[in-house]
Parts: sequence; structure tokens; C-alpha cells
Amino acid sequence: MAYNSGVPQVQAMGRFSAGASRGAGIARFSTVADNIVNLQFVDSEGNRARLPGLVGQTLLEVAQLHKVDLVGPCGGGGSPTEMRRTKDWTETTFGEGPDCFVCHVQIPKQYHHLLPELNAGYQQGLQKVWEEEVNNTSRLACQITLTKEMEGMIVYVPDMPPYDVI
Ligand code: FES
Repeated sequence: MAYNSGVPQVQAMGRFSAGASRGAGIARFSTVADNIVNLQFVDSEGNRARLPGLVGQTLLEVAQLHKVDLVGPCGGGGSPTEMRRTKDWTETTFGEGPDCFVCHVQIPKQYHHLLPELNAGYQQGLQKVWEEEVNNTSRLACQITLTKEMEGMIVYVPDMPPYDVI
């Protein structure tokens, strides 16, 4: 059986990663290091911590992984909510989108082109919980998904309001 040693190997590798590139006949796959995004968290007392996240994680996930004092009870997907459909039927709904508005962060303007817009509904939710702390740098950490372009991004974490009694 005729066998070309280079071609079958590269074709097989291509099935595992569409992002693999070839140089000198050797496929190169992305590494963990290629996907690390270093962020600089700053708390309300000015303490700074350089913390790594991974491309595809949310800012809230990175903060929670490193035990930053930033909580998000709904996780960005919305809390389970009991919807009364009829007198006899109550349905639990999920995935209705952010609804706790506790995961407030502030990101300097120089990074805003990398962030999703804060829509009017989310802004109202933030203002309801955080009142005068909200400004045009405010964002929901659960709605920001890391990209490699966010390397070095500064994330200010304001002091937590007493959200559990609001
Ligand atoms: S975690 Fe609830 S809005 Fe972000």
C-alpha cells in the first residue's frame, strides 16, 4: 500500500482543531498560554491584583475563580423564576437573561470598543441596585466574555451594596 507519511498525519490533526497552523510540515495547535488573558483588578481601596483568565470565560467567572469580592447570584442567565400560567399551573423559567444586576464593574473607556453595549434595560437594573455608583463606565461582569484583545484590561470593582436586603 502506497503511503505518503506527511499528508495523512496533517489531515487527521486538522479534524481536531480548525485553528491549527502549519509550518515546515508540523501542525501547531493553540496552547493554554495562547488563550490566557491577564487582567488588572482594582478594588475600592485601590488594591490591585493582576489575575489571569481564559479566552471565552466571563469576567464574573474569572473574578469568582480568584475569589475577588464580586458576586453574581443569577450568573448572567437569570434566576429561576416561578411564572403562574393558570390557576393550577406554575412554571419555573430559566435563562431569561441577567436579572440580579449585582456583578457591577467599571471599565476604563479605552477598552469600551472591546465590550458589549450596556443596553437600557441593563442600565436601569444597575441603577436600581447601585444608584449613584453607576456611570458610563459601568458594565455587568457576567456579560463580558474575554477575548485576547482584552490583555491588560483594568477592571474596577466597586464596593458591594447590601444586595441581599434590597
Ligand atoms: S450575575 Fe446577575 S446580572 Fe450579572
